[in-house]
Amino acid sequence: MIQDNLFNYKRFVFLKWALLLTLISSFAYLFDQPRINANGGTWLGYTLGTIGALLILWLMWFGVRKRQYANESGNLRGWVSAHIYLGLALSVVATLHTGFQIGWNVHSLAYVLTMATIGTGVWGLSFYLRYPAEMSNVLNRQSPEQIVAQIQTLDKDAQKLAKNESSMVTRVITNSQKQGIYPNRGSQRKGAVKNCATEKAVEYLQHEMMRVDSLSEIYKNQVQRLRALKQLRRYYHLRYWLELWLSVHVPLSFGLLAALIAHVLSVFIYW
Ligand code: HEM
Repeated sequence: MIQDNLFNYKRFVFLKWALLLTLISSFAYLFDQPRINANGGTWLGYTLGTIGALLILWLMWFGVRKRQYANESGNLRGWVSAHIYLGLALSVVATLHTGFQIGWNVHSLAYVLTMATIGTGVWGLSFYLRYPAEMSNVLNRQSPEQIVAQIQTLDKDAQKLAKNESSMVTRVITNSQKQGIYPNRGSQRKGAVKNCATEKAVEYLQHEMMRVDSLSEIYKNQVQRLRALKQLRRYYHLRYWLELWLSVHVPLSFGLLAALIAHVLSVFIYW
């Protein structure tokens, strides 16, 4: 049996609704013969505008529904599936509502913000689909805090192991221990650390081990430290993008709500 996922949820029920909405709106637009140029002020314009506004309110409600853990009205996967398909259908409904009349005014601002919110939704979907699974795989059933604790234990061991070694080894280990996950947000965004001191320690010890036998334990220690750092780096890199896209998508949707209210009010004030 094929498992329900975000896209095929209940045999694509929300894709079907979204396509139906898109088709009905498009046919109505094609066959409508308004006496004035097609725009938001014809009967079809008002109808599409009302559907679009209701869709926006419902899409925003998802943020509330997501946090109602006790609510059992439809499961969250169904909600996300509906959010994606109906969110995409909104692009057609909103565009037809404008009648392709775009200008520098609050009405077009609402339209532009609608499209921008939908655009960020599509952009974020690629992260949303891949990253959570990869994040839990990379941590291998551990929490980030547990891996940090492992690094702390490794550092204590390294200090003991380096005690009787040369001053160069002690310096390399001290530098390595100062090496954190990411030095700044820029490297977290790229997921790469230039001149990683732990990586340098591993390279140095790998080379020195050929001369000094006693370095093998401390070498293993640094290899483990580097592995743990790399796990955390990958995890926080993915988390950066997951949080970043939502921190664009959600404020844009609130901006859209404000512009939508201004748009509706101005339409009724200048009726
Ligand atoms: C104007 C249209 C849209 C509005 C107003 C909107 C609004 C929202 C809001 C308020 C949230 C909740 C975020 C939170 O509180 O954490 C959200 C989440 C989300 N949206 Fe949208 N959205 C729109 C369109 C789209 C589209 C077209 C897509 C994808 C193609 C999309 C994909 C998502 C995803 C994947 C989430 C995260 C779900 C989760 O965290 O479980 N959105 N959106």
